[in-house]
Amino acid sequence: MIPDRDLPNGDKNSLAPSSSPSHIPVLLIEVLEIMNPSPGKNFIDLTTGPGNMSKALLLANAPDGKVLSLDCDPRTVTEQNSNLAEFGSRSIRRCANFSDVLEVARAENFLEVDGILGDLGVSSIMLDHPEYGMSIGHDGRLDMRFNPELEFSAYELVNNLPEDELTTMLRGMDEKRFGGRIARSIVRARANRPIETTGELAEIVSNAIPKRFHPKRIHPATKTFLALRARVNLERESLEKCLGDAGEILKGGGVFAIICYSSFEDRIVKAMYANNRDRWERMTSKPVTPGNDEIERNPRSRSARLRTYRKIA
Ligand SMILES: C[S@@+](CC[C@H](N)C(=O)[O-])C[C@H]1O[C@@H](n2cnc3c(N)ncnc32)[C@H](O)[C@@H]1O
Repeated sequence: MIPDRDLPNGDKNSLAPSSSPSHIPVLLIEVLEIMNPSPGKNFIDLTTGPGNMSKALLLANAPDGKVLSLDCDPRTVTEQNSNLAEFGSRSIRRCANFSDVLEVARAENFLEVDGILGDLGVSSIMLDHPEYGMSIGHDGRLDMRFNPELEFSAYELVNNLPEDELTTMLRGMDEKRFGGRIARSIVRARANRPIETTGELAEIVSNAIPKRFHPKRIHPATKTFLALRARVNLERESLEKCLGDAGEILKGGGVFAIICYSSFEDRIVKAMYANNRDRWERMTSKPVTPGNDEIERNPRSRSARLRTYRKIA
């Protein structure tokens, strides 16, 4: 454990009020314990979102440590500015996909860093704003793009992908048993008119799965939504590329911490370690997960798994 006095503002509870009101950071204390930020250390935040974790690192590595903060969603800029502008030139912010982290780090002369952090997936801002078109709970036009400049959205996939491709995509996201039925229902529904909204899609998927097989704790369309989101944003490909490059950017002994919220991401991270044991040392044998307190405070944290690795010098 890091002693409380070493945490930004001096105590654990002080972290909460400094968070963005629209996104509660997940496993923040645990991330800080692992990254061990102190004056002069430099970090890369691959998935800055509203900037809560970058801010915590910048508070702890003052007066001369820096953080290079990436995010591929240009719409997070306003939130990031309100959290990070106060740090001046110690906070370097770039709108970029983390698949390009090596190129960005080289361009910024930001190599040999002490730590790299990835808090994958989406922020609450993206889930709670229907214009992102990715939420089951907030009806909006189907979209799911992290960056609105991406060529195609979930709308195009849902309304154009052939049935067999939809089935393969769904089965690849662990929707093994009902992938075929869901794909058939989507194709049948769109034959009349395009499927326009997240609400319509959620209902079609839900009706395609017999009630007795509906999962208890998540919506029956959760895996379908995740499969579409991952395909639209090339999430697997971006993560694999980034994991391959992280070792080029960290210094020997540097720390790589990554929080996954779904098993497809976690499998990619575990494979990276399994295939490169000469390069990485695991810092904890099991993933760190949120405690009951955190889950109660922030139910969206419940699926988080933090894995951490040290680059072998
Ligand atoms: C869980 S949020 C991060 C929240 C942040 N750690 C905090 O506590 O304030 C994940 C962020 O990662 C971004 N993201 C997802 N995939 C990305 C990628 N391939 N490259 C860059 N950013 C990505 C999303 O746009 C989102 O803002």
